[in-house]
Amino acid sequence: SHSIEIWIIFLYFCFIFNLASCQIRYSIPEEMKKGSLIGNVAQDLGLDLKRLRSGRARILTGESPQYADLKTDKGILVVNERMDREQLCGDVTPCSLSFELILENPIELHRVTLEILDINDHTPSFKNKNLNLEISESATLGTPFDLESAEDPDVGHNSLQNYVLTANEHFVLKQQSNMDGSIFAEMILQKPLDREMNPHLSLKLIAVDGGTPQKSGTVHIEITVLDANDNAPVFNQSVYRATLIENAPIGTYITTVNASDADAGPYGMVTYYFSNLKGGLADLFNIDVASGKISVTGKIDFEKDRKYELRVAAKDQGGLNNGSKLIIDVMDVNDNAPVINVMSFSSPVSEDALTGTTIAVINVKDSDSEKNGKITCSIDSKLPFKIQSSLTNYYNLLSDVVFDRETTSEYNITITATDSGSPPLSSATTLRLVISDVNDNAPIFTRKSYSAHVVENNEPGVSIFTVSARDVDWNQNARVSYLLEDTQVSGSPASTHVSINSETGVLYAARSFDYEQIKALQLVVKAQDGGSPPLSSNVSVKILIQDQNDNAPQVLYPVQTGGSLVAEMVPRSADVGYLVTKVVAVDVDSGQNAWLSYKLQKATDRALFEVGLQNGEIRTIRQVTDKDAVKQRLTVIVEDNGQPSRSATVIVNVAVADSFPEVLSEFTDFTHDKEYNDNLTFYLVLALAVVSFLFITCLVVIISVKIYRWRQSRILYHSSLPVIPYYPPRYSDTLGTGTLQHVYNYEVCRTTDSRKSDCKVGNAGSQNVLIMDPSSTGTMQRIQSEKSILDEPDSPLELPIPLNAMERRTEPQRRIQAGARPRHARFETRLVV
Ligand SMILES: *[C@@H]1O[C@H](CO)[C@@H](O)[C@H](O)[C@H]1NC(C)=O
Ligand SMILES: *[C@@H]1O[C@H](CO)[C@@H](O)[C@H](O)[C@H]1NC(C)=O
Ligand SMILES: *[C@@H]1O[C@H](CO)[C@@H](O)[C@H](O)[C@H]1NC(C)=O
Ligand SMILES: *[C@@H]1O[C@H](CO)[C@@H](O)[C@H](O)[C@H]1NC(C)=O
Ligand SMILES: *[C@@H]1O[C@H](CO)[C@@H](O)[C@H](O)[C@H]1NC(C)=O
Repeated sequence: SHSIEIWIIFLYFCFIFNLASCQIRYSIPEEMKKGSLIGNVAQDLGLDLKRLRSGRARILTGESPQYADLKTDKGILVVNERMDREQLCGDVTPCSLSFELILENPIELHRVTLEILDINDHTPSFKNKNLNLEISESATLGTPFDLESAEDPDVGHNSLQNYVLTANEHFVLKQQSNMDGSIFAEMILQKPLDREMNPHLSLKLIAVDGGTPQKSGTVHIEITVLDANDNAPVFNQSVYRATLIENAPIGTYITTVNASDADAGPYGMVTYYFSNLKGGLADLFNIDVASGKISVTGKIDFEKDRKYELRVAAKDQGGLNNGSKLIIDVMDVNDNAPVINVMSFSSPVSEDALTGTTIAVINVKDSDSEKNGKITCSIDSKLPFKIQSSLTNYYNLLSDVVFDRETTSEYNITITATDSGSPPLSSATTLRLVISDVNDNAPIFTRKSYSAHVVENNEPGVSIFTVSARDVDWNQNARVSYLLEDTQVSGSPASTHVSINSETGVLYAARSFDYEQIKALQLVVKAQDGGSPPLSSNVSVKILIQDQNDNAPQVLYPVQTGGSLVAEMVPRSADVGYLVTKVVAVDVDSGQNAWLSYKLQKATDRALFEVGLQNGEIRTIRQVTDKDAVKQRLTVIVEDNGQPSRSATVIVNVAVADSFPEVLSEFTDFTHDKEYNDNLTFYLVLALAVVSFLFITCLVVIISVKIYRWRQSRILYHSSLPVIPYYPPRYSDTLGTGTLQHVYNYEVCRTTDSRKSDCKVGNAGSQNVLIMDPSSTGTMQRIQSEKSILDEPDSPLELPIPLNAMERRTEPQRRIQAGARPRHARFETRLVV
């Protein structure tokens, strides 16, 4: 706004020397309006208005435009043209404008100088409205940044006086003067920039002048903070944790690490990698460079590593990096079966080992942990063993039974170790336990007792029979040898009868057996094993000797003598069926071999007599007549039933007569037979001599035998003397069967009290027996010696005589003693000639 101000007009003096020239000076502010009064020239020059008019006063400006105009009518100088001091003078001060006022008539020349005073008509101004700066955030403190200078054409006070920067914490303004006095401003960084916090700053720089009113100009400073790689990537967690199942397949995702970089662009582009990775781990894990995803690339084994600690690093493109930690806990999977180690194992074990003996010590390991590694050990419950845990992971296998090698000689013990995982894994090992033998079993014979048969008259050395014993022990303990126990058989050691092969158990006859002497052998065979100590067992062996038909029947009655004549008497009055006599024969054999049958072989008169086939009874089969000869001679043959059969013949003389004399005369005829008589005398003498000799011999023999026996109290009775067996039932009517009863086969009739009572048959009443026996004395003595043997109290052959047999035998005697005359009472008449 241009307010017109009247400045003081300086009236300068006129040059005295030149009356016509005076100099005046006016100061006026610039930019006055046209027509504005500059000064009263007339007055100041002391000219009146007429002079002006007359002098045609005017202003001379030369070439320059006429800024002032002279109003001659008023004598004032007014602004003719806008005067812009800045235009006229620029920076020059003071700014003055001179022109001449010329008057004619007389010429008068006056210089008028206009001093144009500055007014604040300009604001400071910047060339650009905006100032764009790019400053790196890494710029160092104190760095100056030039700012644009503002222009204010005004001068002096009105010119640019000051700069002001909007308040901010990063920059301070510093103003400096140029040589020409103008000022300019610069910003000094006083606080580091952080692109990440303030990527842009907007500031205003204001330039102010000193005028009144003050004027100002503004420029906007737009600061773009340039990125510097001042931020390292930062992981969002200082430690990452992940769990991973062992044996996870390749490619299994584990976790993702995440680092962010506050920087922009490449400086903010994060790549991931493992740092400080130990050798093996590089094969196990992979990290995705861009995404930070971590996955499995190898075999994860809990048993090798339960925990992995990995350093992860993130790097930006500017090379800054930072690290973090990844802890991977591996979770156990039951992937390991228990491993069984047999630490010690004793086999074989003796079968007498005590219950609870430790058989084996085993160690079981499972590399898995916790439940997966918790092991239970077991064995087949049927096996007689138990398993006990001793120390950790150690187990004892104990026997739970008393072993018996004979029932079970070995055990396959399968030990199973199972862990507690799910599913559980198990492993097994088999121990083969061998039970060693102890001699705890005696040999056992295949049978409780044995009986064998051997036919008499065997060859010595013939094998009879085999005993066999088994020993369930092993090897030497089962090696059976057979022994004959030292028992007595018939008064002599068993070994004299049989022998045994100690290895094979074959029994051999040591001699030839005679059934008639020994019917059975009772032996004890011992089987003994080879153990130490040896065990043994006994078995009784009964060897039955079987009869052979080796004995011919022996005729007991009628007694056969060489020269004596015995005749049965048959009264002529005898009826049909009259029992003349009975041929009594025995066979020392037994059974069929002793089953005798009687037949008439030859007879004087076949029609008169018959012989009972079974019982040997000779009976008449028709009425005896007077015509029948007194002398009757019957030849009876006795046969046994053996194969082949043996036989004996006996000649029975029968006298058919009513009286003794008759018989005698008849038989005297026999004896006084001429040639018979001649010989008889000779025979009698000879017989006498023989008998005497025999008697003496017998006496000597008997005495020697007595002495011998006295010394050897136990000796088998061997009789070389004729034994007169007695067979009671056969001569008794009451037993009419004619069959020899077995029990009597063994019976030998021996007279101990009276030889008369034995074997002599006579009919007290109606039957007389005539015996002519030249050797009767010998017979008597033989019987006596036999008696003496039999009298010996410990004679082994003192066989019991059944009571009924005894009774039968003595019955006739009693009857005789009682004087009764039963039909079958017998007595003996012995006629010795
Ligand atoms: C990393 O974490 C930040 C914040 O924690 C998130 O914004 C960004 O998406 C994450 N990056 C990845 C790859 O997950
Ligand atoms: C870190 O980043 C990962 C991946 O993006 C994310 O899963 C995780 O939650 C983040 N952790 C934190 C503490 O933000
Ligand atoms: C990594 O980052 C942490 C904080 O996130 C910081 O304290 C540490 O100094 C950084 N390390 C490096 C090497 O930059
Ligand atoms: C034990 O095992 C062995 C070999 O496998 C076999 O020969 C034997 O017969 C088995 N014994 C038992 C009692 O099963
Ligand atoms: C075997 O017999 C003998 C005598 O006969 C006897 O001493 C022994 O005790 C018996 N042994 C056994 C085992 O029966």
